[in-house]
Amino acid sequence: MVASNDDKTAETLTGSADRREFLCGSALFGAGIVASQLVSSAHAEDAQPKSVELPSDEKSPAPAASAAAPTTQFGPAGVKGAVGQVYQKAREVLYPRCRVCPQCDGVACAGEYPGFGGLGSGISFQNNFKDLQHVRLKMRALNGVLNVEKRPDTSTVLLGQKLSFPAMAAPIGGVAANFGGKISDVDYFEAIIGGCADAGTLGSVGDSPADPEEVLKARFDVIGHNGGRAIAGIKPRPQTNFIEMIRLAESVNAALITIDIDSAGRYGNQPNKRTQVGPKTVAELRQLVHATKIPFLVKGIMTPEDALAAVEAGAAGIVVSNHGGRVLDHTPGTADVLPAIAAKVNGKVPILVDGCVHYGVDVLKYMALGASGVLVGRHLVRAAFGGGRQGVALFMDTMRSEFEAAMVMVGAANVRSINRTVLA
Ligand SMILES: Cc1cc2nc3c(=O)[nH]c(=O)nc-3n(C[C@H](O)[C@H](O)[C@H](O)COP(=O)(O)O)c2cc1C
Repeated sequence: MVASNDDKTAETLTGSADRREFLCGSALFGAGIVASQLVSSAHAEDAQPKSVELPSDEKSPAPAASAAAPTTQFGPAGVKGAVGQVYQKAREVLYPRCRVCPQCDGVACAGEYPGFGGLGSGISFQNNFKDLQHVRLKMRALNGVLNVEKRPDTSTVLLGQKLSFPAMAAPIGGVAANFGGKISDVDYFEAIIGGCADAGTLGSVGDSPADPEEVLKARFDVIGHNGGRAIAGIKPRPQTNFIEMIRLAESVNAALITIDIDSAGRYGNQPNKRTQVGPKTVAELRQLVHATKIPFLVKGIMTPEDALAAVEAGAAGIVVSNHGGRVLDHTPGTADVLPAIAAKVNGKVPILVDGCVHYGVDVLKYMALGASGVLVGRHLVRAAFGGGRQGVALFMDTMRSEFEAAMVMVGAANVRSINRTVLA
């Protein structure tokens, strides 16, 4: 049977935890040095750190000894403090579900599911990381396009949504089961959606078929009172139930809908037939797409064939994703499959992609490979747990300014001009 999904209750960590602690702990050893070497220097040598009010400690038990905070700040902006503080707090709150390793590569948490890890060996998650690291960029500071007066324009309009830069929150579900219940479902989505709105982009909600109706309603209400600025992620529930979920998304004016078709393999574990997830035919997909005027994206595309099937069903866009390596072991990384998919789709619909987006330069890389925008999953979870709404806004603002700096360095004046020519 397929391992349980994002909403499964907590499991005890196994004996391999020692090895994992070694892997992540050794990465944290001398964290000040590690942070400045391993974690991108792009993180804002000249960014202005903002002060972040971290959530109260009241509900957080003292971290276990092995989770003790490193003596120096670590994390993307550890050098200057603000994002580093958010990450440090996140580690205290999320441990042992997430160790907030300086390099989030899926090694220390392999197989930790529920939690943050990839399924089984964790190789699919690790491939997302590795394949993105292998993308090389061409430095063109003498590009003849930009100077100190003409800065790159990072903004974009995607599927009718104006964004400060082409990155949005990836749908995340099973908040209590995956993250240990230190923040309520509603507070988590307030942080994600509110923080992304503050940063000029879209938040999102995820789904798990076990969610009671009142929980779903409260979650979608968060979209409503944030002006609809979020993606409603809906699992491949049965048609009637899926259409009920579409109506809920419509009632709060959600900006976009995704179906994570890659959750299809999880149907073995659902006791409730009314909400049981499973695969869809193209005809079934078409029925769902046409049931709403909200732009409908098919998430979980890893081949050109599936991309064309989604386009044939009328999807407004696709999301190249292997669900963070949580649905099938041993898949390639998304950066590996994206170019062939983009070539086949050939501009018919916008392509989003996710997989280990951490820095602004990651956004640039995925766009150079053919995406119109990216979704950010685990790193935003950490920002939400470490700094609430402010932490999420800070993380997204930081990523936007890194993206702008990277655009300068490859000579891209605007988002439209990012293409394969920036690849080395
Ligand atoms: C804990 C967890 C829960 C998730 N829940 C959902 C979900 O409900 N719906 C969905 O479409 N994707 C879900 N995903 C997948 C993410 O949307 C995203 O595809 C994946 O995490 C890859 O992005 P990342 O590498 O930035 O984390 C989940 C991922 C994680 C780690």
